Amino acid sequence: DTIPKFMDELPIPSIARPRAVIKGSPYYEIVMKQVQHRYHQLFPTTTIWGYDGLHPGPTIKVRKNEKIYVRWKNKLPRKHLLPIDRTLHESAGPPDVRTVVHLHGANVAWESDGHPEAWFTRDFAETGGTFSRKVYEYTNRQMGATLWYHDHAIGITRLNVYAGLSGFYLIEDPVEKHLKLPKGIYDIPLLIQDRSFHSDGSLFYPENSEPPAPVNPSVQPFFTGNTIAVNGKLWPKLTVEPRKYRFRILNASNTTAYTLRLGDGRTFYQIATDGGLLEEPVELTVLPLEPAERSEVIIDFSQHKGKKLILQNTNDDGNMGVIMRFDVKLPLKEKDFSEIPNKLITEEQLLDEKQADKTRLLKLDAIEDEYQRPVLLLDDRMWHDPVTEKPVIGHTEVWKFINVMNFPHPIHIHLIQFKILHRTPFDLERFQQDGHIQYTGPPVPPEIHERGWKDTVKAEPGMVTSVIMQFSENPGEYVWHCHILEHEDYDMMRPMRVVQEE
Ligand code: C2O
Repeated sequence: DTIPKFMDELPIPSIARPRAVIKGSPYYEIVMKQVQHRYHQLFPTTTIWGYDGLHPGPTIKVRKNEKIYVRWKNKLPRKHLLPIDRTLHESAGPPDVRTVVHLHGANVAWESDGHPEAWFTRDFAETGGTFSRKVYEYTNRQMGATLWYHDHAIGITRLNVYAGLSGFYLIEDPVEKHLKLPKGIYDIPLLIQDRSFHSDGSLFYPENSEPPAPVNPSVQPFFTGNTIAVNGKLWPKLTVEPRKYRFRILNASNTTAYTLRLGDGRTFYQIATDGGLLEEPVELTVLPLEPAERSEVIIDFSQHKGKKLILQNTNDDGNMGVIMRFDVKLPLKEKDFSEIPNKLITEEQLLDEKQADKTRLLKLDAIEDEYQRPVLLLDDRMWHDPVTEKPVIGHTEVWKFINVMNFPHPIHIHLIQFKILHRTPFDLERFQQDGHIQYTGPPVPPEIHERGWKDTVKAEPGMVTSVIMQFSENPGEYVWHCHILEHEDYDMMRPMRVVQEE
């Protein structure tokens, strides 16, 4: 590889500004545009799609319980940047360039959730079957958290997100006021994505699988890039002061999972998971992140003055084993009064497996289509099969993901945040024969870095992964799916209908 690392300084995404106040609430307009983006200073520019022409998109910052409106506008060209597989559901009929925006991790009414079939084309000229409003409403009735928004259009989510359509959405919680966490310029979001390029600088996304399927272009079960972009720059560096920083780390890659490690194993402190702050900070030396998972950490650079610390990915020992670098070279501006508190929050909602109203057993499996391509399935059903998951408002549910494949799947459920209960190994052979789950070991508690509120969970192969959640408001049409975008598109996504009690 000839792309020199650590040349570009890490960009910090700009903060979105409301255009107006409507009914007392901030109103934003964010426009999807095709633009030229520079991934590296020695690189030609790359045509990408960005929210407001930015990659990542502008960071939306709100306070907990503060309502905002966003009009997501599509001003993209008629032709898609990337190869579209027209054999996938919905890809044959509707226009190629269709978009819909999902706020990942949000408690939101379903009409503003970004349902995959609520897509719209440029200027809302055409819309999908579940489209119902042009202006989305976010009530932000949830804990402070690092959420992210991204495209979710049916059949082409992998392409639209890869083209650049993702950004941060931060909910600030007043409880943080009393905690002296690093803030302002010391609070930095990191959006990690793997990318590949043609030699002219254009984005590379494979047209077909290896060996090629008889249809072209064809979806494939995985995408892995050969470079790492953080906030839209390849292998950047961040020059920091010798003090504490808060990083909000998001894996926004299509397929790739990372295990982050700092400078050959320095410790850092995790303070939050997907859905918000942990009860107390957790000291870590490695941090695994599946696609769509977020983790917030505090790194204290005060002991590393003058050093250069590489943020590594231990899942790879080549180029992809390097994410970015922290250069502790800036002078300390002022004394660092920030803290890593002993206690962050007090948990209000305790969910007990024994009190669950419903337990669902959900198999993660694959079949083959007529072209011998894998079709990934949830509960042996495809996207268009009738809805089977219909949780009731007020109920607590346990979902058990039975992964019979040899690959982990990051499973994401819209609308709610859940807790991971445990993962339990089972007899796969027996299960394949008669469908009986014979556990072969004790339940394994969640890993130390996943003991907070989550909306995405790694369903390990050969394990039954159990999560617990409560449905408290917002009946309507949602979805749950594998967040490997190549899986979500074909066909590891299912509807979820949240219903009022009879
Ligand atoms: Cu981040 Cu339904 O997705």
